[in-house]
Amino acid sequence: MKRIALSILLAPALLAAPAPVEAASGGAALGAHPYDSYETPEACGSCHTDFYEQWRQAMMSQCYTHHWDEIEYFRLAVPHAEKDEKVAEVKAGCNGCHAPLSFLAGDVPPPRPEENSRANESVSCDFCHTIAGFEGEIPYNFNWISTPGAKKFGPKPGLESPVHETEENEFMRSAEFCGTCHNEMSPYGAWVKATHIEWKEGPYSEEGVLCRHCHMPAARGKSAVMAEEGWVAQHLFHGAHDPGKLAGAVEIRMHPETREVDVRDAVVLKVQLFNAKAGHKIPTGSVEDRIVWLHVEAVDAKGKIYHLPVDPKGFDGEEYTIASDVLAYQDMGIPLEIRNFKGVPRDGIPVGDRIFRMPYFDPQGRMTIQQWNTKSFGADYRIGPRETKIETFTWEPPETVALGKVTFRAVLNYQKLVGPVAEFLDVPPEESEVVLINHASTWVELYD
Ligand code: HEC
Ligand code: HEC
Ligand code: HEC
Ligand code: HEC
Ligand code: HEC
Repeated sequence: MKRIALSILLAPALLAAPAPVEAASGGAALGAHPYDSYETPEACGSCHTDFYEQWRQAMMSQCYTHHWDEIEYFRLAVPHAEKDEKVAEVKAGCNGCHAPLSFLAGDVPPPRPEENSRANESVSCDFCHTIAGFEGEIPYNFNWISTPGAKKFGPKPGLESPVHETEENEFMRSAEFCGTCHNEMSPYGAWVKATHIEWKEGPYSEEGVLCRHCHMPAARGKSAVMAEEGWVAQHLFHGAHDPGKLAGAVEIRMHPETREVDVRDAVVLKVQLFNAKAGHKIPTGSVEDRIVWLHVEAVDAKGKIYHLPVDPKGFDGEEYTIASDVLAYQDMGIPLEIRNFKGVPRDGIPVGDRIFRMPYFDPQGRMTIQQWNTKSFGADYRIGPRETKIETFTWEPPETVALGKVTFRAVLNYQKLVGPVAEFLDVPPEESEVVLINHASTWVELYD
C-alpha cells in the first residue's frame, strides 16, 4: 500500500497527548515497565462489573490465550524468528499487540498460556486506559504510548472515582487508538494488517463513523456500580468470532438474465454482493488466514444438484480468487523444519467457487499465512466498505437435466482460517468452522 500518500492523509488527524517523561512506545517500549506497573482486570472489574464481563467474552481478553494464537506464535513465529535474522524482531513484536504487558515487561517469549502468567491478561483494562497517544504519523505496530499509573484516561471530563484519577483523553475516542494494533507492517515493509487504513480511505471516516461506533456502541447504563446512569460505551469488540456480527455483513441478490430458457441454451445468473455493514473491507485484519467465498448450486425439477463455477473476469492474479486444489503455504516448512515441504491445499473449498481475498506472498513469491514473512500481495479482491461486486455464472444445463423449474441457491461463507492449514496445524475446529454470511435464491423454467 502507498506509505507516503498515507502519512500525508493521516498527519492532520493526530491527537496524541503530550507524552509524560516515563512514556515509551513501539519497539522502544520493550522492557520499559514491569508487570506490576499495571493493575489486573479483576481489580477494575470490582467496580466496572458490566465492562469486565463484556471484556471477558471479547477476543480482546484472549489475544494471548486463544489456542490458534498460541500455535502460531510458539510453533511458527518464534522458531522462524530464531532462524531468520530478517524476521527476528517478531519474537518480541507479536506481544506488542497480543500480550502488551509482557512486551512492556520485556518478558520474551512470555510463559505459555497454561502457566497462567500475566501475559494471559492479553489486552487489558489498565493497558488500554493508560495509553496517552501514539508516536509517529500513522498508527501501526504498537506505536501506542503507555503511561501506567493512577491516572486512567477515558472519554469523559470530570468523573470521580474513589480509587483512581480520571482524565478525559480525546485520543481514546479516535480510530487511531485502535489503529496502533489494527495496522501492522511486516519486517519486509508490507501492510499485512490495514483495518484502520482501509477505514480511513473508505466512506465512513469522512462521515465521522468510528471503530467504536460499530464495535463499542453506546447504550444507557452505568459505567461503574456506584456511577450515575448515562450513555456508556459497551465493551463488546465483536468481530469475526461472533457469527451475529458476520451475519448479513454482505447483502446478496441474484437473478437470471431470462426466466424462460431453452434447455439447449445457457442460463446466465448475476449475483450482487454489497458490503452494507462493515467500515472496512471484508475480510479485513488477519487477511492471510481468512476467506469469504461464494458457492452457487442449481437444483433441477427432480432434485438433482449441480455445482456452478464462477465466470472468470480476466483480471491479473484472478487465479487466486477462484478456488482450486493447488498447494500453497510452503514457507511453514521453515519453522517446522520440514525439508522441501510441498505445502497443503490452498483453499479446501469446492473448486470453481469465487473467493474474496487478498493473497500474501513470501519473499520467494509463494502464498503464505505467515504475515511476518510477507513481502508482497496479489490482487486485492475483497469487498470494500459500501462496495458492490457483481459475479456472473453461466450454466449450460447438462443433457440429464429435468425440464421445468430449476432453483439456484447462492451462499456466501466465511472462514477465519483456511481449512487445510487448520487441519495441518491441529488448530481447534471452531477456528475453521464455516459461518454463513448470507444467501440468496432464484429460479428459471427450462423448456424443450
Ligand atoms: C472502587 C471502584 C473502582 C475501581 C476499582 C476502578 N474504578 Fe474506574 N471508575 C470508578 C468510578 C466510580 C468512575 C466514575 C464513573 C462515572 O462517574 O461515570 C470511574 C471511571 C473510570 C473511567 C472513565 C474515565 C473518564 O474520564 O471517562 C475509566 C477509564 C476507568 N474508571 C478505568 C478504570 C480502570 C482501568 C480500573 C482498573 C485499573 C478502574 N477504573 C478501577 C470506580 C472504580
Ligand atoms: C460501520 C460499522 C463498522 C465500522 C466503522 C468499523 N467496523 Fe469493524 N466490523 C464491522 C462489521 C460488520 C464486521 C464483521 C464483518 C467482518 O468480519 O469483516 C467487522 C469486523 C471487524 C474485525 C474482524 C475482522 C475479521 O474478519 O477478522 C475487526 C478486527 C474490526 N472490525 C476492527 C475495526 C476497526 C479497528 C475499525 C476502525 C478503524 C472498525 N472495525 C470500524 C463493522 C464496522
Ligand atoms: C482495547 C482497549 C480497551 C480495553 C481493553 C478496555 N477499554 Fe474501556 N474504553 C476503551 C475506549 C476506546 C473507551 C471510550 C469509548 C467511547 O467513548 O465510545 C472506553 C471507555 C471506558 C469507560 C468509560 C465509559 C463511558 O462511556 O463513559 C470505562 C469506565 C472503561 N472503559 C473501563 C474499562 C474496564 C474496566 C475495562 C476492562 C474490563 C476496559 N475498559 C477495557 C477502550 C478499552
Ligand atoms: C493493544 C492492541 C490493541 C488495541 C489498542 C485494540 N485492539 Fe482490537 N484486537 C487486538 C488483538 C491482538 C486482537 C486479536 C484477538 C485474537 O487473538 O483473535 C484484536 C481483535 C479485535 C476484534 C476482533 C474480535 C473478533 O471477534 O474476532 C475487534 C472487533 C477489535 N479488536 C476492535 C478494536 C477496536 C474497536 C479498538 C479501538 C477501540 C481496538 N480493537 C483496539 C489488539 C488491539
Ligand atoms: C500491530 C499489532 C499486531 C502484531 C504486531 C501482531 N498481531 Fe496478531 N493480530 C492483531 C490483530 C489486531 C488481530 C485481529 C485481526 C482480525 O480480527 O482480523 C490479530 C490476529 C492474529 C491471529 C488470528 C487470531 C484469530 O483469532 O483468528 C493470530 C494467530 C495472530 N494474530 C498471531 C500473531 C503472531 C504470531 C504475531 C507475530 C508474528 C502477531 N500476531 C503480530 C494484531 C497484531
